[in-house]
Amino acid sequence: MGHPSPYPETFSHARMSDTLTVTDNRTGRTYELPVQNGAIRAADLRRIKTDDGDPGLLSYDPALVNTAAVRSRITFIDGDRGILRYRGYPIEQLAEGSSYVETAYLLLRGDLPSAPELEAWTRALHEYRLPPERAADLLDGFASDGHPMGMLIGCLAALSTYYPDAKAIFDAESRQRQILRIVAQVPALAAATFRARRGLSVVRSPDGLSLVGGFLAMLFAEDGRAYRPDPVLERAMDVLFVLHADHEQNCSTFAMRSVGSSHADPFSAAAAAAAALYGPLHGGANEAVVRMLTEIGSVQHVPPFIKRVKAGEVRLMGFGHRVYKSYDPRAKIIKRTADEVFAVTGRNPLLDIAMELERIALQDDYFVSRRLYPNVDFYSGLIYQAMGFPTEMFPVLFAVPRTSGWLAQWEEMLVDPDNRIVRPRQIYDGPSAREYVPVERRAT
Ligand code: CMC
Repeated sequence: MGHPSPYPETFSHARMSDTLTVTDNRTGRTYELPVQNGAIRAADLRRIKTDDGDPGLLSYDPALVNTAAVRSRITFIDGDRGILRYRGYPIEQLAEGSSYVETAYLLLRGDLPSAPELEAWTRALHEYRLPPERAADLLDGFASDGHPMGMLIGCLAALSTYYPDAKAIFDAESRQRQILRIVAQVPALAAATFRARRGLSVVRSPDGLSLVGGFLAMLFAEDGRAYRPDPVLERAMDVLFVLHADHEQNCSTFAMRSVGSSHADPFSAAAAAAAALYGPLHGGANEAVVRMLTEIGSVQHVPPFIKRVKAGEVRLMGFGHRVYKSYDPRAKIIKRTADEVFAVTGRNPLLDIAMELERIALQDDYFVSRRLYPNVDFYSGLIYQAMGFPTEMFPVLFAVPRTSGWLAQWEEMLVDPDNRIVRPRQIYDGPSAREYVPVERRAT
């Protein structure tokens, strides 16, 4: 057999020869560890001990950079070759031909729907789209200029109080109900956070619009007036939703799985996932990119800014990725989508600064040697801004479609027989045992 791929695309059974021989130089003992799908089982290392009192060898992997913590059949990424597929379908083909609603079905159910299945799924999402009436009151309790991600996280957790049946996580029908509720209602909650900050009343998604068209209506409709989304902008938003729907074991998805592994209800787990997404190193990066471009201010200021990045003073937001060591395939599609959007909205003047940053970075040894390329967040914020969204809404726009990926991963985790509560080990590096000293006897 050749070199085991670090990206096994299908699960396979280990062959006898697929083993790793490890010699422990502390004891001289040798161990055979099975290798499956390009991985050893970390628990097998526990057999490696210096003596009977030794709890066994651990692997130390801060930030889990080289640990496969799950088996998944949902999303495949080959970071070296810039490949992303949902359930085997290339992201480029889904962005071209699919819709977010269909892609959500694909992620959640494992296959593309037939025409009647798609119709039933679309209808179900429409039926489930209204959050409980009292949920609208929640928004009054937040700071009126509070960050909408904070509001969304709060609303998601609050939904669990309206749906106690969500606790029945091992009941497949209940799971489907909660999945429909979260995927269908989060657009309404996201739109409500947007309107709350403007002092506008909540608008219902009208009949006859797609999920994305209805989302735009809930955001931008003027009170009492009919709203028709611009078809180019609706399609662009749909493409962005497809691109953001899942991305295997990123920080927020791992939060979803991790909290879900304690058997918390999916609303609480999704609130935790949204909180993880909020950070500027993850879904908050799109917001940080536009702030950075605004701060840079002009193309002439790009070279000194790059200098500061190289000196370690600031990060080039929207660049770099834990997994992609080549151009993020989503960023390529977003760049094209940006042109279509700007044809309708007018060109975002920050685009020139972004393109100059990219041009310089892609030929500068600092970025080339570290394999830092634009990621999904580099251009998406420019589109959102041109469409009329304030920067603080950008992570919310990331969260809306990611709910489908979170829930697909959550359900996969629950039905996986390997699943147990997430509980990593640690290397204790603190003081050894010492006697408690009452405060009056402590040195001052
Ligand atoms: N600007 C400048 N230097 C960078 C950047 C950046 N954006 N990203 C990584 N580096 C450098 C980093 O300083 C380190 O250099 P050295 O080896 O000299 O210490 C090297 O590249 C490796 O970086 P790292 O921090 O070890 O990489 P990571 O895998 O831990 O972090 C990342 C990945 C995405 C958090 C990071 O690249 C970053 O902070 N990027 C900016 C934030 C961003 O755009 N996030 C969005 C990610 S994509 C959307 C999503 O799914 O969340």
